[in-house]
Order: sequence, then C-alpha cells, then structure tokens
Amino acid sequence: MDKGERDCLVAQWDAPSACLTIAADEAHVWRVMLDPPPQTPGFMQALTQEEQARAAAFQNADRATQFRVVRTALRQILSVYADLPPMMLRLMHDRMGRPAMAPGQPGDDLHFSVAHSKAIGLIAVTRAGPIGVDVEFMRADRDFSAIARRFFSPAESNILSSMPADAQRTAFYRCWTVKEACLKAMGWGLAEGLAAVETDPDPGAPLRVIRVRAADATMSWQLAALQPAWEYAAAAALQGPRVQWRGLAWGPEEPLFQAY
Ligand SMILES: CC(C)(COP(=O)(O)OP(=O)(O)OC[C@H]1O[C@@H](n2cnc3c(N)ncnc32)[C@H](O)[C@@H]1OP(=O)(O)O)[C@@H](O)C(=O)NCCC(=O)NCCS
Repeated sequence: MDKGERDCLVAQWDAPSACLTIAADEAHVWRVMLDPPPQTPGFMQALTQEEQARAAAFQNADRATQFRVVRTALRQILSVYADLPPMMLRLMHDRMGRPAMAPGQPGDDLHFSVAHSKAIGLIAVTRAGPIGVDVEFMRADRDFSAIARRFFSPAESNILSSMPADAQRTAFYRCWTVKEACLKAMGWGLAEGLAAVETDPDPGAPLRVIRVRAADATMSWQLAALQPAWEYAAAAALQGPRVQWRGLAWGPEEPLFQAY
C-alpha cells in the first residue's frame, strides 16, 4: 500500500520549445482548449477514415467536435515525440477501448491517455509506464454524498459524507479523477467500477492510491493533481517509477506542429 505515491501539482501550462523531446523519467500532460474549436481551414480533416467515421457516429455534435479536435491534437503531439508525420502514426485500441501506438513504428514505446470534459481536453504522454488522465467539469448541482455512496468504497464515502457540504464538491472530484486516471492507466476504464481503486478523499492529505482491487499491492503509482482551468478537476496516474510531471499547452497555430 501507499508505495511510491507523492503529491505533485501541475498548474502551469507552458508553450512547447522548438526541440521538444520527452526523457525516460518525464510525463508530459498537454492541455487542449476546446471552446471555441480551432477554425484553421482543413484542421478537422486531418484524421484517418476510421477516425472520421467515429466522429460522424457521435449523436451529439459537440462531442463529435471534441473528439476531432483532441484526436487531431493527439496525432500532432505524438508525431513530435515519434518523429513521424501525424497521418503516418498508426493508433489502435485494445478490446477495452484503451488507445495505444501500434507496435513496429517509431515511438511505439510511448504510453498515452486522453480525456475531455466540456471546454478542456487533456493528453498525457510518457515512456515511463502505463498512464491515465481524467478531467471533469465540477458541477455544483449534485448530491455528492449520495453519488459517493453509490460509486465509491464505504471508507471513501464515509470520509466524504463527514465533510461540510461546501467542501464535498472539491473532495468528490479529486477522488473521482484520481480513480478514473488509475483505471485508465490499468486499461480497465469504468468497466471495473470506480470502487476498484481506493484513494483518500481528504483534500488536506497527499494524493495517494490506497489499494487497487486485484492488482499487485507492490505496484508503484505516481500521481499528479492537475489544474487545467477554473472549475475543472483533473488528475494523472502513472504505473511506474518516479517521474517529472510537466504541463504543456497545445495550440492549433503552434509552429512546432506546422513542420508536419
Ligand atoms: C474510459 C472511460 C472511463 C472514459 O470515460 P469518459 O469520462 O466518458 O471520457 P473521457 O473523456 O474521460 O475519456 C475518453 C477517452 O478514454 C480513452 N479510453 C477508452 N477506453 C479506455 C480504457 N479501457 N482504458 C483507458 N483509456 C480508455 C479513450 O482514449 C477516450 O478518448 P477518445 O474517445 O477521444 O478516443 C469509459 O468510456 C469506459 O469505461 N470505457 C471502456 C470500458 C468498457 O466497458 N469497455 C468495454 C469494451 S467497449
């Protein structure tokens, strides 16, 4: 339990340098602003046929745009690390839906994870181990104690319910995003249920994973609390050795991506 976790906060989102690389002991989290979506001509077309079909299948137009923008940004970002043009990257999904670089291409040692919520997209990339990221817009109109009773472990739910009502929202979203980031790093998504990862909802305590159901208890987790924007909660989780976390800002006009 509690092995290797440490508190880390990413609240600064830097413009990338012209010669961006990622060291073995680094994890980069990219912030993608989704509102308004990029207006650059042709921007939305820089996807494969399969990705275009996926976008077209969304019932909700905003969700389709969100997918297109984040997927285009993902291709641009991975292409810099892999040193391949974005449209030459081969991306795949496993049977649980986790995206990955297809093997046998430059950059196939990169791990990455994607999340979106309303106006914010996040893309986490590392070579250090499986990574997950989650972002949530923090709604106010919810009964957080009731949701926690339904989806969190009894211990987490008890701690949350004992907090004053005005502290519950932040604690709830902190807990939720850490859980979902860990579940994405494991490749499980929500299929295993949020209670499969137990964490500490106390905002005064360091971020930590207390246990993960059916997982090796000696597993080392690196966690980062992310502050992508006001009213959003976000977290990244990495299974592996200690890393340096870095926040980067993606932009459609960024010269780094124009070379491709
Ligand atoms: C992954 C999951 C938690 C995402 O939840 P969400 O809050 O709706 O959406 P987010 O924006 O946070 O994350 C979406 C991203 O998660 C990623 N993702 C999907 N399944 C994943 C998994 N099993 N592990 C890790 N990441 C996953 C995708 O990259 C997706 O982005 P994309 O649609 O742009 O490619 C949820 O969709 C889930 O649990 N899905 C899969 C589990 C499952 O039952 N699979 C059965 C086979 S289909």
